[in-house]
Amino acid sequence: SEPISLYERMGGDSTIRQIVESFYPRVQQDPLLAPLFPEDIAETIEKQRLFLTQFFGGPPLYSQIHGHPRLRARHMPFPITPHHAEAWLRNMDAALDDVGISGSLREEMWSRLTSTAVHMVNRLPEER
Ligand code: HEM
Repeated sequence: SEPISLYERMGGDSTIRQIVESFYPRVQQDPLLAPLFPEDIAETIEKQRLFLTQFFGGPPLYSQIHGHPRLRARHMPFPITPHHAEAWLRNMDAALDDVGISGSLREEMWSRLTSTAVHMVNRLPEER
């Protein structure tokens, strides 16, 4: 039998939607992150919903529509210092609290999110 994916264990589509709907309004309130994002966040929310679905082991929705994620390349136009990665993760931590994700499931998700966030850093702090 197939191992049950992280995506399924976290509650699938409904949980992913709750996460992105808590996360992006927080990002829009964050003085460091808000200036990087478009004012209308709807499309960003939808792309991240598609992406996180496959990122956590669900169906490859993002790639079906947008092709290979090439996440680091797609983030290159935005100056992302370690402070931005820290702020991104702080807001995601709060979103996971909102959705009520805890325990070993949360730890598994967190480990993937933190390593990806660190990987997105493309500027030194003083380069901002
Ligand atoms: C897009 C910032 C980390 C996944 C974006 C955009 C910005 C951004 C400004 C463009 C929004 C738009 O124009 O719609 C950041 C910053 C991060 C970070 C400051 C701090 C480290 C991450 C991480 C992930 C991620 C950790 C995945 C776990 C995405 C995806 C998109 C995106 C899937 C949409 C790409 C596309 O255009 O198709 N991010 N991001 N980001 N980000 Fe991030």
